[in-house]
Amino acid sequence: MRYYVTTPIYYVNGEPHLGHAYTTIAADVVARFHRQKGDDVFFLTGTDEHGNKIAQAANDRGVTPREHVDEMAPKFKALAGQVGATNDFFIRTTDAEHEAFVQEFVARIHAAGDIEKRTYGGLYCTACETFWREEDLVDGKCPDHGLEPQFIEEENYYFLLSRYQQRLHDFFVAHPDWVKPRSRYNEALAFIDGGLEDISISRETLTWGVPVPWDEDQVIYVWVDALINYLSALTYARPGEDLTSRYWPAQVHFLAKDILKFHAVIWPALLMSAGYEVPRGEFIHGYLLMGGEKMSKTRGNVLDPFEVMETYGIDPLRFYLFREVTFGQDGVISLEGFEQRYTNELANELGNLVSRTASMIAKYRGGEIPRPAAPHAEALAAVAAEGEAMVAGAAAHLDAVEITAALETVWEFVRRLNRLVEEEAPWKLAKDEAQAGRLDAVLHGLAAGLRLVALALHPVIPGSAAEILRRLGQPSGDADLLFEGAVWGGLAPAAVDVAPPLFPRIERAG
Ligand code: MSP
Repeated sequence: MRYYVTTPIYYVNGEPHLGHAYTTIAADVVARFHRQKGDDVFFLTGTDEHGNKIAQAANDRGVTPREHVDEMAPKFKALAGQVGATNDFFIRTTDAEHEAFVQEFVARIHAAGDIEKRTYGGLYCTACETFWREEDLVDGKCPDHGLEPQFIEEENYYFLLSRYQQRLHDFFVAHPDWVKPRSRYNEALAFIDGGLEDISISRETLTWGVPVPWDEDQVIYVWVDALINYLSALTYARPGEDLTSRYWPAQVHFLAKDILKFHAVIWPALLMSAGYEVPRGEFIHGYLLMGGEKMSKTRGNVLDPFEVMETYGIDPLRFYLFREVTFGQDGVISLEGFEQRYTNELANELGNLVSRTASMIAKYRGGEIPRPAAPHAEALAAVAAEGEAMVAGAAAHLDAVEITAALETVWEFVRRLNRLVEEEAPWKLAKDEAQAGRLDAVLHGLAAGLRLVALALHPVIPGSAAEILRRLGQPSGDADLLFEGAVWGGLAPAAVDVAPPLFPRIERAG
């Protein structure tokens, strides 16, 4: 199956923060999972570099927009790399190829007769890059950013979105799963059914943008420019190759609810007008909250992901974000909560299990994973069945983008293996020669079970999963990670490596 997955392209007005990393990691988890299923995956992320907000940020710093974006975009690209994202391309909306494609795309809409020139005055919030109706403001301020919008009057080109109301409605009704979760689908459909107004798709007073192809005095509205990235990237991500027919329509766009309307209403209408298929799905996740507020640059309450990663590495952060906050919902995160899960779950439950398994195999079987002989081979049949059911269960959850539920399924089995150690007490079995076969079965079972845990955890904590496999002497190349090989009997005969703790205890300064 072809599987094209995207993140929003992030505004480069400020420094990248954990909120941006969150969506990128979620998309990465899903991309890695689909590669494990053998799908043909394309994973896109990038930066949104035009518009007022960026021009203002540059102006505030006393640099040109070009200088500003060239300085900021690499930081976003670096963050994607640091959080372990396996994106196949990183798009910047200032790429010449993207700009040319945007012009072609809007020319198609123009040719379709869906564009008109009009004068409009309205209240504009630069932080959202959108107009607000007076009645939607809270105390005269933008409800999303708490900033006072500015009155702007301009002659602009309008996209006749109102013409698409019925088609959008029909599309929603025919595709009840295309926006998930259902509450977001309902919200978008209600918005459509509430009546769609035409939208301005160009700016007269701004120069930092892509020129309107038939009127170079205007630039294309940053949101239109941005949405088109999902298509434009496919035309130039691989030099000399157009990936559009291979990967479009996208399987899933990931985003948070702040930008639902743009993705679930405006984007499909633009695609219909320009003659493209609408994406197969959109997944709208919740907000990471710190101290009860959405993290954002504008509010200034950010947790620096670089600091967390420097102390703990990236996998514990990836694990925590999806273990703690049910993916799809809003949830509160904190350093204290992180440290608790790190210690209780990663260090004590998983890390210790790996250490104990390797050191018991080293101590009782000279480091070689034993192969249980009949009749002991069947002693752990129930655990084996649970292990394989765990893999199937985690995969079913990941297929449905239920990352948190997938982790819970894996964790129940981690706890099952820990109970196995306590119940079987290998240190006692080792003292009784008559129990040698049973000890073989238990040690083999722990290694086989941990291998399945590593395979199931690969999408979320890829580095740690590979390290578990390495310690068990198991291969961890792309082909070795495939779900089809995630069976109990797939454990290769091998020698284990007893190494320092996988998740060492961290003494926090201060
Ligand atoms: N540039 C637009 C998107 C254009 S896509 C065609 C934009 N950029 S943004 O930098 O503001 O990024 C918004 C997105 O970042 C959210 O939709 C979400 O994916 C992610 N998040 C930013 N802060 C977040 C949280 N605190 N929590 C969860 N997601 C967060 O909007």
